[in-house]
Amino acid sequence: MAVCEYKPGLEGIPATRSEVSYVDGSQGLLEYRGIRIEELAAKSNFLETAYLLIWGELPSKTELEKFQDEVRYHRRIKYRIRDMMKCFPETGHPMDALQASAAALGLFYSRRALDNPEYIREAVVRLLAKIPTMVAAFQLMRNGNDPVQPRDDLDYSSNFLYMLTEQEPDPFAAQVFDVCLTLHAEHTINASTFSAMVTASTLTDPYAVIASAVGTLAGPLHGGANEEVIAMLDEIGSVENARPFIESAIAQKQKIMGFGHRVYTVKDPRATILQNLAEQLFEKNGSDPYYDIAVEVEKVVEEKLGHKGIYANVDFYSGLVYRHLGIPTDLFTPIFAIARVAGWLAHWKEQLAVNRIFRPTQEYVGNHGVSYLPIEKRS
Ligand code: SDX
Repeated sequence: MAVCEYKPGLEGIPATRSEVSYVDGSQGLLEYRGIRIEELAAKSNFLETAYLLIWGELPSKTELEKFQDEVRYHRRIKYRIRDMMKCFPETGHPMDALQASAAALGLFYSRRALDNPEYIREAVVRLLAKIPTMVAAFQLMRNGNDPVQPRDDLDYSSNFLYMLTEQEPDPFAAQVFDVCLTLHAEHTINASTFSAMVTASTLTDPYAVIASAVGTLAGPLHGGANEEVIAMLDEIGSVENARPFIESAIAQKQKIMGFGHRVYTVKDPRATILQNLAEQLFEKNGSDPYYDIAVEVEKVVEEKLGHKGIYANVDFYSGLVYRHLGIPTDLFTPIFAIARVAGWLAHWKEQLAVNRIFRPTQEYVGNHGVSYLPIEKRS
């Protein structure tokens, strides 16, 4: 069996063959099932994009309506899960609450019937439908309020914003939010998707697969960066302070949150679309001082690190959009997870067809033939 050379972080090592999405990092190209992200962001919506990613083609009108109705029907969460979430500490991070409640779905719905297409579809619908409800429920409960029931008269994104704020969602804000979900839905074999694939390869249940992926996405080097970007802009505090702040961070070899990528060596195409969305929001609702600081930060980082292929990634502008929509900063990554459930499920289904457990090897660099030393003889 040919053994590949060890690469930290498996950089450049293919972990699968996939048809779900494609990235050309030097061209800033991203396609979902062959369709450019710019086209999907402009013409599709999140649930239609999720269907495309998971079942491999755009749904017919009837298929889409059926899928939307199924997701709408399954938005509610069992009272026992809500009661369990009521015991979560208010100080807990929403990503930890999401990981715990996603795993809890398995207690009610796991049947390990992975050879049954109906079961596969049910799991897809339930996870897409219930994850937003759980994120919103935790938000209301940690503020001492009772969670609200989903509203069947609202579409996917409008309903989430309603459950989160208990207010009638602004149609433009809901549309912007829905585009953000489409942009965050899938991105080839990133860390959390790889985590989902490894978990899926053991033929465990889809709820455990999603719980694994949520835990992986939470890290600040991955999905958690969008929250860190706002903290960084907060610390910078003014456009004038952007340059000295960034220069000092680079001098101290600190990673600038929202920049750099394992694959892109140019600006992440999703960052460009998110920046345009931010500008549309600010045009409509008034400017945002954080945006001016962000634009200056991007200019300085490009000047200083562009030669190393370090440019803005998806996390740099997403937080500005969510913040402008009144979403609390520590919910930015759970919202990333709401969207990425579509990509994780697409790769889960794809791995079921591969049907081969992940079991990589290693380059052993330790000792051999070491004798056991009795405790009294150890220093
Ligand atoms: C996401 O994989 C995906 O597709 C992920 C994602 C998705 O949709 O799923 O796109 C979502 O996770 C976006 C990334 C969000 N994370 C951040 O914004 C955190 C900051 N970024 C870095 O931590 C970093 O860029 C990574 C983790 C994103 C990528 O890291 P790599 O590929 O392992 O790069 P590296 O750490 O080996 O760095 C290579 C060089 C180093 O310099 P040298 O030691 O060679 O001199 O580039 C430098 C790094 O110091 N570098 C940075 C930097 N990122 C890399 N320097 C300053 N700031 C940065 N952000």
